[in-house]
Amino acid sequence: EEKERESLYILTDFAKKYFTNQLHNSEEGNLIGLSYFRERGFTKEIIDKFELGYSPKQWDAFAEHALKSGYSKELIEEAGLATFKEDDKKYDKFRERVIFPIYSFSGRTLGFGGRILRNDVKAAKYLNSPENKIYHKSKTLYGLFQAKQQIIKADQCFLVEGYTDVLALHQAGLQNTVASSGTALTNEQIRLIKRLTENITVMYDGDNAGIKASFRGIDMILEQEMNVKVLLLPEGEDPDSFAKKHSSSEIENYIKENATDFIRFKVNVLLEEANNDPIKKAELIREIVKSISLIPNIIKQEVYIAETSKIMGIREEVLFKELAQLQKSGN
Ligand code: CTP
Ligand code: MN
Ligand code: MN
Ligand code: MN
Ligand code: MN
Repeated sequence: EEKERESLYILTDFAKKYFTNQLHNSEEGNLIGLSYFRERGFTKEIIDKFELGYSPKQWDAFAEHALKSGYSKELIEEAGLATFKEDDKKYDKFRERVIFPIYSFSGRTLGFGGRILRNDVKAAKYLNSPENKIYHKSKTLYGLFQAKQQIIKADQCFLVEGYTDVLALHQAGLQNTVASSGTALTNEQIRLIKRLTENITVMYDGDNAGIKASFRGIDMILEQEMNVKVLLLPEGEDPDSFAKKHSSSEIENYIKENATDFIRFKVNVLLEEANNDPIKKAELIREIVKSISLIPNIIKQEVYIAETSKIMGIREEVLFKELAQLQKSGN
């Protein structure tokens, strides 16, 4: 068991070096991979810091190289890096993609995300390493290894959706940024952040999926007794696209002015939906009190009730009654 894990770590590290070597030292990697990153505006510094790579077009380039270097078919398959067919044909998992290595908290390579180079191709935009004995997606945050010092120093963590969002914000100087790699945040991921700070700012994509995911994320973060703010990006933007259009100081200012407490965020989004309909407005208040009921700390609950009372123009007693009812029914 332990030996198998160790072998997986070694092969995955070998693969990471292969992909970075392809990016920097092969003609194909230079022409296709490096130009891709350059076109998106990523600097050499960021490409190196995150050890980005490239997987060649050839169907079995990596499998061939790994077999020649003495790794077994079984291990290569277990790592999810290639599959082997009966006729001795081999198929690399990552072909003609740019590669984002995924690290553990302590910096070991666990697996990879691979992005397709052209958006018009039908294949999945991102391929990710499968779950195995070393890689558990739900317990991993992309960028955490590179961000952890700065998270402690700033006592604050920015949470984004994607690989390129992490790269772009680190490049813009916000090195306390990590990604949930998609919109489904998990409790294990939140606990990883909690080891470093109690303060999270959720900065998901400015689309419906991003807003919905922020709502779910808020409640999960509150339940773990952490403080959560939300930054809503302009519609259609994600942190990467936003960062590419603005200077570092503009980004910082935008965050300062727009990062809102979770209550205000919920109120703003839901009030717009409610459109002055009193029934919907009542639902909105219940929705907010529901979030408050998840906070384990009673003093914090009181502070948030006071805040909600102020914003919504509802007496605190009414909100406390609602809160008591929710807690009695166990939500
Ligand atoms: N994702 C994934 N598989 C997909 C799509 C998305 O694993 N087929 C994950 C990736 O971690 C991705 C994140 O979800 O980074 C956010 O998805 P999306 O917003 O679609 O991609 P971006 O990160 O914005 O990537 P890009 O800017 O390169 O389009
Ligand atoms: Mn998205
Ligand atoms: Mn995105
Ligand atoms: Mn997108
Ligand atoms: Mn993007």
